[in-house]
Amino acid sequence: MTFKVKILGKKEIIVDAGNTILEAALDQGIDFPHGCRTGNCGACKSKKISGEIEMSPFSEFALETEEEKLGFILACRSVPWSDCEIKIVDDQQNDDLDGIKIKKLEYIVSRFKKVTNDIYILNLQITSNEEFTFNAGQYAELYFDQCKEKHFSMANSPNSNELEFHIKTLDGGEVSNYVKTILKIGDTVKVKGPFGNAYLRNNHRGPIIAVAGGTGLAPILSIIKASQEIEMKQPIQVYYGAQSEMDLYFLEQFEEMTKKNKNLSFFPVVMENSGNKTFRKGLVTDAVIEDIQNFDGYKAYLAGPPKMVEAAEKILTSLGIRKVDMHSDAFYTPYDEIKDT
Ligand code: FES
Repeated sequence: MTFKVKILGKKEIIVDAGNTILEAALDQGIDFPHGCRTGNCGACKSKKISGEIEMSPFSEFALETEEEKLGFILACRSVPWSDCEIKIVDDQQNDDLDGIKIKKLEYIVSRFKKVTNDIYILNLQITSNEEFTFNAGQYAELYFDQCKEKHFSMANSPNSNELEFHIKTLDGGEVSNYVKTILKIGDTVKVKGPFGNAYLRNNHRGPIIAVAGGTGLAPILSIIKASQEIEMKQPIQVYYGAQSEMDLYFLEQFEEMTKKNKNLSFFPVVMENSGNKTFRKGLVTDAVIEDIQNFDGYKAYLAGPPKMVEAAEKILTSLGIRKVDMHSDAFYTPYDEIKDT
């Protein structure tokens, strides 16, 4: 027995009895959005227009009970029992960057604080009525006086009035020197952006893993803040690697966020031994492998030093996360030898 399934905007497919709509669609050459194919990520979400469909078990994060009541289905779990009509939910709708324009705007330094031996947190307030629109996880070019522009990720939520940047300074960097010795509250900084594709995919319903190294914490922080604001409910695990205990920052803020948001967990990992036994020791990527065995339906956000990001990409790919579900922001710079990261 077979059933006809009309996919609005695409062609009609034939589904063998007992087969899922997604499998049949993919077999028949339909470009149907999908991820895990096991009911965990929500990428194949569709709306049933007509017909009888039975769904096998799926994750509540991929499809909420309310959505199911409204007639939404997961195509990877949906077996038709009559001819049907469905419409793919446009998962990409919120994911694209339509409506976001690159601008160059002038800001004033409102706060400026050293938080580790070499990391500063810079808060900027806009001087005009113009809005700087971006997606959580993106970055901007910052222009400090006569210095060559340099890329930094926004650490604030896109809804915040102030922009926040985390700046790691190293000896010899032009911007590093400027930040360490000249920059002060009230100074003007120009910001051009946003740029980058490693931004939060709002429609994803599967679990999220975020791996950050050093000031890679900034874009991850923005992603976490935004995910909490739009009340994403799936498990979100943040792994944060640093050389030593001294290089960790924002721990209290993360502790507070994890208390408020039960779906969020945070794991700082340090490379070097310290007297403090509460921190895990080793490579941040090793901690990830130790903790998570099944990456079904996951999306990954990775940010920080290129070596860490590349290692995490390799490991996560070998463990089953697809490339399209990996959103990486490696902090490459033109000054690799005397690098501000
Ligand atoms: S592909 Fe259907 S939920 Fe992931």
